[in-house]
Amino acid sequence: MQLIKVKDYEDLSCRAANFLAAQIWMKPCCVLGLATGSTPVGIYRRLCRMYDKGELDFSSVTTVNLDEYKGLCPEHAQSYAYFMRQHLFGQVNLDPDRTFLPDGMNPDEEKECTRYETLIQELGGQDLQLLGLGHNGHIGFNEPAEQFIPLTHLVSLSKRTITANKRFFASAEEVPGQAYTMGIGTILKARKILLVVSGKEKADILQQVLFGPVTPAVPGSVLQLHADVTVVADEAAFSACSL
Ligand code: GLP
Repeated sequence: MQLIKVKDYEDLSCRAANFLAAQIWMKPCCVLGLATGSTPVGIYRRLCRMYDKGELDFSSVTTVNLDEYKGLCPEHAQSYAYFMRQHLFGQVNLDPDRTFLPDGMNPDEEKECTRYETLIQELGGQDLQLLGLGHNGHIGFNEPAEQFIPLTHLVSLSKRTITANKRFFASAEEVPGQAYTMGIGTILKARKILLVVSGKEKADILQQVLFGPVTPAVPGSVLQLHADVTVVADEAAFSACSL
């Protein structure tokens, strides 16, 4: 694991955006695994700026997102499809036919999970997977559990996640209770992984993810087993780690 400590959120966004840009320069037809949440917003802003300046070309890139709320259509302002259009897809020359997310409106759980998992494998897997970290150690929407779930699945969100994510909704009651997410195995099959973490409130969980036991109780800890993980975190997020 490569651990990169940066000063603050701005630095984190800059470092991580350069990392993603380098992946596109290296392999223009790459498959990028993308994430939502507050942390990647600055990264996407920088990527859009690089595109505006003519430094980046997304025309051959394919994207697969980690997760989507069940029951939210792509037009819903809190859906991850909407988030991605706002922050990246609508601003750069990505082919809309090559940007993929789980379909939150598919009521057939089994079919949707198989469809998404098969799609990712048929694309050849992610060249680079961007990940944020949930307050309880979740990656994608892989919540703390008794065992790692390998493939794309439907998950019931924990109270902690619903509380953390209610800031985007009018109330906690409006946060969907379930989501489709890539599984731990789907994530681990990515050739490279970039984990981005910001802020003091993630310091303890980041310490557990990086240096604690590998356990499904802290889903992000499984990243210790992957051969090519880069962690970009700011000083506040690294403050519980003795680096
Ligand atoms: C959501 C997403 C995760 C993300 C997490 C952290 O739950 N499903 O993929 O990593 O939020 O988000 P934030 O960056 O806002 O702390």
